[in-house]
Amino acid sequence: MTATPDPGSAAAVQAVLFDAYGTLFDVYSIGAAAERLFPGFGERLGILWRDKQIEYTRLSSMSGRIRSFRDCTRAGLRFAAKRLSLALDAAAEDELMGSYDRLQPFAENLAVLQALKRLGVRAGILSNGDPDMLEAVVRHAGFADLLDPVLSVEGTGRFKTDPATYALGTAALRLGASEVLFVSSNCWDAIGATWFGYTTLWINRFGLPLDELGAAPTRTGTSLADVLSFFPFSPRSPTP
Ligand code: LAC
Repeated sequence: MTATPDPGSAAAVQAVLFDAYGTLFDVYSIGAAAERLFPGFGERLGILWRDKQIEYTRLSSMSGRIRSFRDCTRAGLRFAAKRLSLALDAAAEDELMGSYDRLQPFAENLAVLQALKRLGVRAGILSNGDPDMLEAVVRHAGFADLLDPVLSVEGTGRFKTDPATYALGTAALRLGASEVLFVSSNCWDAIGATWFGYTTLWINRFGLPLDELGAAPTRTGTSLADVLSFFPFSPRSPTP
């Protein structure tokens, strides 16, 4: 943990909402499939693809041009391939898009979700992903019994960091924003959630600098296990 803990806000937290892509599921785990298809370009394709995908969600949101997350993802892939002069035929595109439904979870995640369940802490997802994409990736990881609710921004016609998307979480959980711990590995998402009022944890897996947005998450960690530091003495913990 790099930020000073704030015991006051930690005590108020009653539930957890996770970002999906990059936080629970490794968006760069498609790199292996990309490398097989385009030797020497897998990593660069993965990074460019993710950046364009997010850029397209923001353009969609800002301009009121509603697009699904899958559409933004496909468009981002096509752009990234063109940018790298890679011949992305329909089979390669379908294979890489399909891999988005089978992204690998980070190694520690299953144990953290199981620990939250043991503690009686409700844990869900609030993601830009389309409902069918989230359903597929959660099921593939074996997390279906550990995450409830799984919330997609789809119905808002907006993407994060629009406040309407973050409001889905407080409405579904019937909690105040500060009573919910929002967890994201995407710094911009952790900041957007902080602006909304959530208690937040940025999982800084890659040692990145804090975004220069004039705000900071409640805490910063390096792995999903840092979520558990918000619940050290849960009254609902089972006695050993
Ligand atoms: C999500 C993206 C932003 O899951 O990672 O919402």
